[in-house]
Amino acid sequence: MEKYIINGGNKLYGGVEIQAAKNSVLPILAATVLTDDKVSILKIPEISDVKNMIKILSRLGCRAVYDGGSLTVDSSCADCFEIPSELAHELRSSVFLLGSVISRFHMAKIAYPGGCDIGLRPVDLHLTGLKRLGVQITEENGYIICKCENLKGNEIMLDCPSVGATENIMLAAVKADGITVIKNAAREPEIEDLQRLLNCMGAKVRGAGSSSITIEGVKKLHGCEFLPIADRIEAGTFLVAAAMCGGEIELNRVCAENISSLLHKLRENGCKIIVNNDKIILENHRRLTSVKSVETQPYPGFPTDLQAQMTALCCICRGNSIITENLFETRFKYVPELRKMGADITVINRNAFVRGVDRFKGATVLAHDLRGGAALVCAALSADGRSEVLDISHIDRGYGSFEYKLRQLGGDIVRVSV
Ligand code: UD1
Repeated sequence: MEKYIINGGNKLYGGVEIQAAKNSVLPILAATVLTDDKVSILKIPEISDVKNMIKILSRLGCRAVYDGGSLTVDSSCADCFEIPSELAHELRSSVFLLGSVISRFHMAKIAYPGGCDIGLRPVDLHLTGLKRLGVQITEENGYIICKCENLKGNEIMLDCPSVGATENIMLAAVKADGITVIKNAAREPEIEDLQRLLNCMGAKVRGAGSSSITIEGVKKLHGCEFLPIADRIEAGTFLVAAAMCGGEIELNRVCAENISSLLHKLRENGCKIIVNNDKIILENHRRLTSVKSVETQPYPGFPTDLQAQMTALCCICRGNSIITENLFETRFKYVPELRKMGADITVINRNAFVRGVDRFKGATVLAHDLRGGAALVCAALSADGRSEVLDISHIDRGYGSFEYKLRQLGGDIVRVSV
């Protein structure tokens, strides 16, 4: 087990290179199963979710080779359609493999997925969508078993715009017979990125980024080299850290449009933000003012993956805020930890009521999940005194070289084995 030791109070100054988006790379890795050719992913992030996905691909018989910052996956030898529970439990995104594994083998057997413990994360929409494409699904001893002779295009209306279900159906439909239309599709930038990748592989997908996606099935896909979009959640986390600590940071290779909901809130807080092509510069030298409310929504609304970091920021602003979590039930597990650092927060159902205090004070706190853990690091960097953030394996799921990047900006943070 590892922990961070953080001496808070340093302002953050300098540039940060943002990694490729975790939530793009995971479905892209699932897509590599759809071809016998090699697919190279550039600037692959060094995070444990990606490493676990590679372990699963290896189990399926694919070969993955790192070369500098890229990863090349060769699925020509893939010969297994089963994802065992020990691997699926490590990573919720293993469920994305259902669509591509079915497409390739006409069979898939996958243990119910794991991932962050942020409330019930059902997969009913994934399964309903696959059924509409002709897949027969049974559930046995914790496994989902899928069979299908021939995937057939169809119209699928999602009950809610699930990111994972949209991506999974896209992956199953690209090589199906005929046309698939996904209605009420999720509109996240990572879905557009998956469309871009699939089309680079020879697929015919259009409409991603809107709520209607049309997929015309093709017989065969080929290999390609692909640079995924920048990680908007990593970018947002650094912006919040700088807003909380003060200083001036510059993010490179980012798309401001993809985090405009956060940039609006940070401007409302009083941060100075300049956007220049693919750069975002944030400057702040004073105590910020609370935003009245922040409410998580599907894209383009405020992302649930930045909710914890934003709440941490509101804790040290002047005034009160209400943060409402609309997507996941238990995404306030970090709140008792922030309270140990002096935060004044009351959670009632989906709402966190925050009364601003002057500063956080250092404390020993426990990361319960990926984004909550990142919020604790932001709080500790801005706090008076020394903090320890325990069980940082959660943070390693989504932030590559996190402490290294923060140290480059002037943060006093080290990783220690316990
Ligand atoms: C993805 C992201 C995650 C982000 C989330 C919401 C990846 C790898 N993960 O997760 O970081 O927090 O989007 O932006 O891209 N739902 C159902 N039935 C289903 C599927 C989902 O009811 O079959 C519900 C969920 O419980 C949740 C909502 O739909 O309330 C959104 O979930 P979804 O968009 O599917 O999130 P993920 O794809 O799991």
